[in-house]
Amino acid sequence: MLRISPLRLLWCTRSSRVSLLKVFGSRHYGSCPLGVGNEVREGRAYFTTPIFYVNAAPHIGHLYSALLADALCRHRRLRVPVASATRFSTGTDEHGLKIQQAAAIAGLAPAELCDRVSAQFQQLFREANIASTDFIRTTEVRHRLAVHHFWEVLKARGLLYKGLYEGWYCASDECFLPEAKVTRQQGPSGVACPVSLESGHPVSWTREENYIFRLSQFREPVRRWLRDDPQAITPEPFHHAVLQWLEEELPDLSVSRRSSQLHWGIPVPGDNSQTIYVWLDALVNYLTVIGYPDAEFKSWWPATSHIIGKDILKFHAIYWPALLIGAGMSPPRRIFVHSHWTVCGQKMSKSLGNVVDPRTCLDRYTVDGFRYFLLRQGVPNWDCDYYDEKVVKLLDSELADALGGLLNRCTAKRINPSGTYPAFCTACFPRKPGLVAPMVRAQAEDYALVSSVASLPKQVAEHYDNFQIYKALEAVSSCVRQTNGFVQRHAPWKLNWESPVDAPWLGTVLHVALECLRVFGTLLQPVTPTLADKLLSRLGVSATERGLGELHFLSRFYGHPCPFEGRRLGPDTGLLFPRLDQSRMWMVKAHRT
Ligand code: MSP
Repeated sequence: MLRISPLRLLWCTRSSRVSLLKVFGSRHYGSCPLGVGNEVREGRAYFTTPIFYVNAAPHIGHLYSALLADALCRHRRLRVPVASATRFSTGTDEHGLKIQQAAAIAGLAPAELCDRVSAQFQQLFREANIASTDFIRTTEVRHRLAVHHFWEVLKARGLLYKGLYEGWYCASDECFLPEAKVTRQQGPSGVACPVSLESGHPVSWTREENYIFRLSQFREPVRRWLRDDPQAITPEPFHHAVLQWLEEELPDLSVSRRSSQLHWGIPVPGDNSQTIYVWLDALVNYLTVIGYPDAEFKSWWPATSHIIGKDILKFHAIYWPALLIGAGMSPPRRIFVHSHWTVCGQKMSKSLGNVVDPRTCLDRYTVDGFRYFLLRQGVPNWDCDYYDEKVVKLLDSELADALGGLLNRCTAKRINPSGTYPAFCTACFPRKPGLVAPMVRAQAEDYALVSSVASLPKQVAEHYDNFQIYKALEAVSSCVRQTNGFVQRHAPWKLNWESPVDAPWLGTVLHVALECLRVFGTLLQPVTPTLADKLLSRLGVSATERGLGELHFLSRFYGHPCPFEGRRLGPDTGLLFPRLDQSRMWMVKAHRT
């Protein structure tokens, strides 16, 4: 039997999650360079969120992970509107010591805790309009079968062996730690207790025989994969960080625990005295969902995009690809990494009592309002801070005033009495800028607006490819401002429908603004699906005209017929997004005190 020192044996260090939090906790990396990504535009695409631990109720960080995946997936559906071409999975991670202990503390059977908290995640995702196609629980039978199969493949390929592990184990971080990563801290009873240097969580001494995966053999293949595909991990600083980690020796990885220590998990096939390590169990969920080990899974793998938080990068970018290569499969196509939400400058934690309940936020700011806030303000490269006033300010200015105001200005009865999409007059707004003719009314800034909005869908797609959804929203918001400027400049409320001189230009101004709104509505669908639906319905855009392939912005300007000219606008169903007025602000303040 092999004896392995804790310094050499790397047990999926959650401590590395913590150090990564430190590395990427600040803004010094800036934003990643732009460029069109290598996302597969044809064929199938499979998006995944991490599966969420069920030791505690969901918070806004969890919702953020799920929203990023949801927006990516919805944007993909706008590009390729074939339902069977896109799959999106999420779920709950229900095994391991962390859950076993949380259940014991709560005085519940582990299965009962899992049922309760998994149901909370499912309810939250339903309420937040997360359009996943699959929800997996690792306690399901189909998952145990997939994990067993995966284990047997690794074993048959000679990649598992038995070794003795002796060292510290941190249950809340689910990782083994070398001595150098442990310190002593005064506990509540006054006695000094060993804790993880990085997370501060208690550790205990462990000595046991485990199954070990020959991870060290995969350092080179994983490096090659990352070198060959510079977009495998996005944003770029995370790709770079993984390559840096791989500069160091990659020790073998312990992949089981003694069942007497960890009974809440999947037993090692043929050896009930050992339970499969929770990270191996959890990672295989991505295969279970697509039918592994049945051959059908191959139509989805490796066309996969994993959306993950920075704290679980090492598990996804080193251990998972190594396990996959070991089992004869390809690594996932893309790993999109995001940073974390803090609250009023502090890490969110139960002990600090500052955990933000996402359901309260959805209720207070509306589902689409809160979705917009998290995706507009969340920047993958660095941590973002949450506070209520920030939400109110953003939503009032961008959704209520700028976007809602623009729609109102162009559809209000007073200005658009016929309630239709007016005609565009090419004599007032000719294709060629700078023409001098009596009918011409368009100015240089108007051409700039048309050019900005015409290039917006491509720009937005590039931001999605680069996992910079906040930049996509920033670009939309900037065009909304530009369009408001256009309307302000030409003051259609001063033009007269009765005047043969004014009328064609008045129609053109409204036509251009409505066309811009149509583009914004189409592009906002992945982030604010309900609000976008309301906007597009008000413009009279039918369900089959809402994909990116059908966008055709301002056709008449480009010399083509426009299907919207003369079309009746949809019924007015009130404000697009009501202001979160002062009374709401008071409510928020009262809640915080
Ligand atoms: N169960 C593992 C994942 C296994 S995937 C095979 C896990 N679960 S978790 O519940 O702790 O975290 C799930 C996701 O939530 C991770 O992507 C994590 O980064 C994210 N977040 C947890 N806290 C967060 C914030 N404060 N802010 C943003 N995202 C955060 O890890």
